[in-house]
Amino acid sequence: MLLELKDVHVHYGKIEALKGVSLEVGEGEIVSLIGGNGAGKTTTLKTISGLRSCSAGSVFFEGADIGSMPGHRRVLAGIGQAPEGRGIFPGMSVHENLLMGAYARKDDHTKELAEAYELFPRLAERRTQAAGTMSGGEQQMLAIGRALLSKPKVLLLDEPSMGLAPMLVQQIFSIIEEINRRGTTILLVEQNAQQALRLAHRAYVLETGRIVRSAPASELLDDPQVRAAYLGGDVGGDPGAAAAASGPESVALSKPAKGGPAKGEPAKGEPAKGEAEPADDAEPDGADAPDGE
Ligand SMILES: Nc1ncnc2c1ncn2[C@@H]1O[C@H](COP(=O)(O)OP(=O)(O)O)[C@@H](O)[C@H]1O
Ligand SMILES: [Mg+2]
Repeated sequence: MLLELKDVHVHYGKIEALKGVSLEVGEGEIVSLIGGNGAGKTTTLKTISGLRSCSAGSVFFEGADIGSMPGHRRVLAGIGQAPEGRGIFPGMSVHENLLMGAYARKDDHTKELAEAYELFPRLAERRTQAAGTMSGGEQQMLAIGRALLSKPKVLLLDEPSMGLAPMLVQQIFSIIEEINRRGTTILLVEQNAQQALRLAHRAYVLETGRIVRSAPASELLDDPQVRAAYLGGDVGGDPGAAAAASGPESVALSKPAKGGPAKGEPAKGEPAKGEAEPADDAEPDGADAPDGE
């Protein structure tokens, strides 16, 4: 197992955000962690990347307990993260932001830099632009591109579709799939459950700090309970999640839910030509990086 959490508990003061989370991510997989607002998704990723420590339980990476390993060493070990809210450096150029992703490395990063620009041609066009002046979608691309510069074995993605226009959501998910196809393992956190489950091999459902379901993603897509709670329709109890997901999801839901895996959808075959993105995706949330925690 590449990555394994065993009965992980995490507290913020007296609040127990994770109440015994166990999950596994195998090499080459796309594993998705879905759940509503406040379920503990971001906390789970922060615990893996070393921004939060466990009050109980363990995190294993490549078989070794990394519980006491500092965050920068986890990056070197192969744990890359594109954080929630992008976390880019607004005053630095696109190019400088990408290079920040490689700062801890001592080896040559030319290949990964070229690959980031190849996966995200938009970043290549804007390499000298101040990152803070980019649209929300572009900042998301930059956050993922920067994470790739650390040459991760596993890439942790925290709601990459958040706040993006539907067309950009498709693009970002296609690129995530391509990154996986090229060999990087992915742990994808999403409120946009429909899209995430179509992309992932396996998925976990997190509710108020506990894993309540774990199954092949296709199975969860078909599960009536999961559909009711996370896949639109009569979404109850979590207006925040419903609102955050409604844009992209309403589009996805108009397609057949099962079968046609997201595999081989518009991906790279469809050049980023008319990539005109509505201004509404440049939401303020994208600009307040980095989330120095
Ligand atoms: N810095 C913090 N201080 C106190 N409580 C926090 C902090 N960050 C998150 N929490 C709480 O921990 C729980 C899980 O939050 P989070 O992991 O951000 O959820 P998600 O990413 O699924 O929306 C929530 O109840 C949230 O209010
Ligand atoms: Mg979160």
